[in-house]
Amino acid sequence: MRNAAITGWGMYVPEQVLTNADLEQMVETSDEWIVSRTGIRERRLAAETDTTLAMSAQASRRAIEVAGIDPLDIDLIILATVTPDMFMPATASLLQTELGAHRAAAFDLAAACSGFVYALAVGSQFIQTGVHRNVLVVGTDALTRFIDFTDRGTCILFGDGSGAVVLQASDAEEGVLSNVLGSDGRGAQHLHIDGFASNGLFARNGNGGSVADEVGLQRTFMKMNGNEVYRFSVRVMGETAVEAVNKAGLRLGDIDWLIPHQANLRIIDAAARRLDLPRDRVWVNLDRYGNTSAASVPMCLAEAADSGKLQPGMNMVLVAFGAGLSWASSVVRWGATGVRTKANERDG
Ligand code: COA
Repeated sequence: MRNAAITGWGMYVPEQVLTNADLEQMVETSDEWIVSRTGIRERRLAAETDTTLAMSAQASRRAIEVAGIDPLDIDLIILATVTPDMFMPATASLLQTELGAHRAAAFDLAAACSGFVYALAVGSQFIQTGVHRNVLVVGTDALTRFIDFTDRGTCILFGDGSGAVVLQASDAEEGVLSNVLGSDGRGAQHLHIDGFASNGLFARNGNGGSVADEVGLQRTFMKMNGNEVYRFSVRVMGETAVEAVNKAGLRLGDIDWLIPHQANLRIIDAAARRLDLPRDRVWVNLDRYGNTSAASVPMCLAEAADSGKLQPGMNMVLVAFGAGLSWASSVVRWGATGVRTKANERDG
């Protein structure tokens, strides 16, 4: 079986910075509270032009450039997002055109903050089974568009951004070694955005209206039970990370890096303790970007790769959790020395 190696990476964040001091002007909160409870200092806000498509295109172009492939070599694009530009078509299809990746199949994948790690698992299967050679996996969200900036329980946490990787077939001992995916819909009510979905609220009644029209529903916001999500995430991050290590046939001592979803520094620290990793082996950028949902793991990966701290042969655990409730983890062996598919070698 072939391996699915990460050969390209990129990220994009909007320009506008929203600091904790800015939030102090908007809700009853303080920089001290936010930093001590979450580790977040500032986050980025998507401008009108920073659509999920636009942010995805920026991150993807960089990933494609790093991989050194032609967009026409891409066989499949998977875009993990819960904030697509529109209901249909999939934003991945719009991205395909934007990138000139005209040969690629394309679809969106919705698993909230776990979305990128889910998409990485799906994309790597297509390579490992020999179906595709070059897969673009993107995680992008513009969740601040669905945040109630009068709700201090949620508005301090989230930011916008995008991250992307190119996965390529490789015969070397590198790439995605294991995946764990999970979901428990019994916890769905703890983290959700109801509106703009084809649920009953929007069903047409006999007069052509809907319940949403009757109650004047114009815009819906994220609702979150922070304590429940916190309890769930502290348990599941460590458990699912260890499960991925076991599935890869490795021991905890073989893991060099933890690349976790960036929701809360206390949650990340708990996962690091479970993996027996010191803080300097855990990639953290939530102080600068907050929780960027599906973008957080690939943004961390892109930063870590650009920093030069990922050496060939190093093993890392990617782990995320989110609405669903959902969770996902992967063990990835960093390559960059392996035998890659040549850019001009396409599926015949
Ligand atoms: N500023 C100041 N005070 C705040 C506040 C804010 N932004 N948000 C909540 N508080 C208050 C609460 O009202 C509460 O006050 P009370 O004791 O007078 O009732 C107090 O702070 C403690 O609230 P609590 O919710 O218990 O705090 P916490 O330590 O659990 O931290 C979260 C809250 C949201 C930071 C934490 O629960 C969390 O990170 N949960 C996970 C959320 C998450 O990761 N979501 C995304 C998943 S992908």
